[in-house]
Amino acid sequence: MTDSVEKTVLPQHVAIVMDGNGRWAEQRGQPRHQGHRAGVDSVRSAVDLCGEKGIKVLTLFAFSSENWRRPRVEVNLLLDLFAITLQRETEKLHENNIRLRIIGNIAAFPEKLRQRIHKAEQHTRHNTALILQIAANYGGRWDIAQAARHLATQCQTGHLTVDQIDEQQMAQATSFGADIPDPDLLIRTGGEQRISNFLLWHSAYAELYFTDTLWPDFDEQAFESALTDYSRRQRRFGKTSEQLSCS
Ligand code: FPP
Repeated sequence: MTDSVEKTVLPQHVAIVMDGNGRWAEQRGQPRHQGHRAGVDSVRSAVDLCGEKGIKVLTLFAFSSENWRRPRVEVNLLLDLFAITLQRETEKLHENNIRLRIIGNIAAFPEKLRQRIHKAEQHTRHNTALILQIAANYGGRWDIAQAARHLATQCQTGHLTVDQIDEQQMAQATSFGADIPDPDLLIRTGGEQRISNFLLWHSAYAELYFTDTLWPDFDEQAFESALTDYSRRQRRFGKTSEQLSCS
């Protein structure tokens, strides 16, 4: 266990865009899917570090709603890898008191994968050490639209009035529900500096951290560097530095 980052300045919730698997593989003359396989090792290492540090939520962007546009072979491979990893790792997550949540439009996935997701979520639902959220067929715009649809239905059925719709109602209707806090730190590996339709609603005040490190190379040390960088940020939430130093 590493103590280089003080617990008090740790993020409660870290979200990661895991980018660079394909390039990692290409640099080694390997097919892209080898990069995704290597990426699973980095997922394990990130989960372990969050557990060790006491970070409460880790959200990983595994498959975006735009990833369907990739070659069919790669899409199938990503879905298979997701299914296999769920199968292989759920028991270990459970032993480590980790709760698994899948966020995204999973209705589009094959029935077998949907069942596996449901089983893993049910199995781990009472765990409390860490919430691991996997964003699969996820898009930030999709999440906002489905939340709006949900609230509209509530109004139609008389459970809510239009005047009652506020930011809190909206937040609760997103895939995070009422319990998951917004991410404090959003990391993107692989050199690009964009959000790519990830947690659009929830990242309003997230600290952004971009690194050139490709996801399969994002080891504990790289994660530590991101946490150290975060610990030096001043989060003002609209206030001035002076106000913060007085409080
Ligand atoms: C982006 O790299 C990565 C993905 C689209 C998939 C991420 C998936 C995993 C790490 C494995 C599965 C995860 C879980 C949680 C089971 P890219 O292919 O866009 O890389 P490139 O930009 O170098 O082409």
